[in-house]
Amino acid sequence: MKKIVNAGSAVVIGTDTFRALNNFIKKGNYTSFVILCDEHTVQHCLPVLVVHCEALRSAELIELESGEMQKNMETCVQVWSALQDMQVDKNTLIVNLGGGVITDLGGFVASVYKRGLDFVNIPTTLLAMVDASVGGKNGVDLNTIKNQIGTITLPKLVVVNPVFLQTLDERQIRNGMAEIVKVALIRDAVFFKKLSLFRSSRSFINEETIVRAVQLKQEVVKKDPYEQHLRKCLNFGHSIGHALESVCLEEGRDVLHGEAIVAGMVMETYVAFCMKRCSKVTLKAVEKMALKYYAGIPLPDSIITRMKTHIRHDKKNVNGTCWFAIAAAPGQFGMMAVNDLTLIDKAAAHYTQLYNLT
Ligand SMILES: NC(=O)c1ccc[n+]([C@@H]2O[C@H](COP(=O)([O-])OP(=O)(O)OC[C@H]3O[C@@H](n4cnc5c(N)ncnc54)[C@H](O)[C@@H]3O)[C@@H](O)[C@H]2O)c1
Repeated sequence: MKKIVNAGSAVVIGTDTFRALNNFIKKGNYTSFVILCDEHTVQHCLPVLVVHCEALRSAELIELESGEMQKNMETCVQVWSALQDMQVDKNTLIVNLGGGVITDLGGFVASVYKRGLDFVNIPTTLLAMVDASVGGKNGVDLNTIKNQIGTITLPKLVVVNPVFLQTLDERQIRNGMAEIVKVALIRDAVFFKKLSLFRSSRSFINEETIVRAVQLKQEVVKKDPYEQHLRKCLNFGHSIGHALESVCLEEGRDVLHGEAIVAGMVMETYVAFCMKRCSKVTLKAVEKMALKYYAGIPLPDSIITRMKTHIRHDKKNVNGTCWFAIAAAPGQFGMMAVNDLTLIDKAAAHYTQLYNLT
């Protein structure tokens, strides 16, 4: 088992991590436990969890419908009401068992209920294991704009156990790979090179890769927990990616977070190339990885126009200037001011041509 500690919050990674969870629960003296899960994790993950963790067999259960559409304030109110009905006290532990939607929403719900309950994240998707469940950012979408409401509160423990990945389908694995590739591109050239040499998506599901991705994220979070400077690097691909994800959410189009972020990484790197902030070699490396594992997302003009509206409202903008986090080269992060949004049109045209989508 690998343990990575940051500000009193530990991430344990490995197939033997239930022991750490049991020890944590024993020491915690909690009066009750509430497990938050969705319709899929209740079926695939809860049985595994309770086999290994006896204390959670008597936990109360809150089950949500799955998917990004549930990550909103209405669902939070339902969960808070359920907690009230259960008469949980301040000494209750919330256990978020699921992908990023559950850990984002559950972390937020716990961090403000009765001014804060302890919570543990047990991520069950690759994306949540390497990214969403780690680092303390949690929250929900508002009117389909991503992550507008939230807090930065660290979970008491994150239990990353690859056993849960056995029931995850190929598309969801690739979804998680996107965040592994992202963190490698901005923080570790050697790791990115290694990922580039993998022959299939299955190669990404190994403990060593998950540990490295979490280590890289934790290093950043430790240095800059509240995103004053360095943590901005984790937004690589997310300015355009989140805009695309939000527009797809509005339209009910089936695009996953990681898929949107990969498209975002390609387009933002193209913008960086146009602004002479990265080389053609870097652009090609990002494109090669995207083409190898991800289908292109069609970008009609109507979508690009709405994406630009979202980009103008991005949380990272300062005084009307958009700031993109970029990989200036593999392993090297930089920030780039983008005032000319016609570059988004150019990047979208480039992406469309790259994938032969016309
Ligand atoms: N907080 C952060 O720092 C951060 C970082 C990255 C992404 N995110 C957020 O994470 C969310 C995406 O997370 P996600 O991709 O995990 O989505 P998700 O939580 O919707 O999970 C994807 C699907 O997989 C199912 N599932 C989960 N575990 C399973 C398992 N073991 N077996 C079978 N099915 C399983 C879920 O029910 C769901 O249908 C987005 O809302 C994104 O904004 C947050």
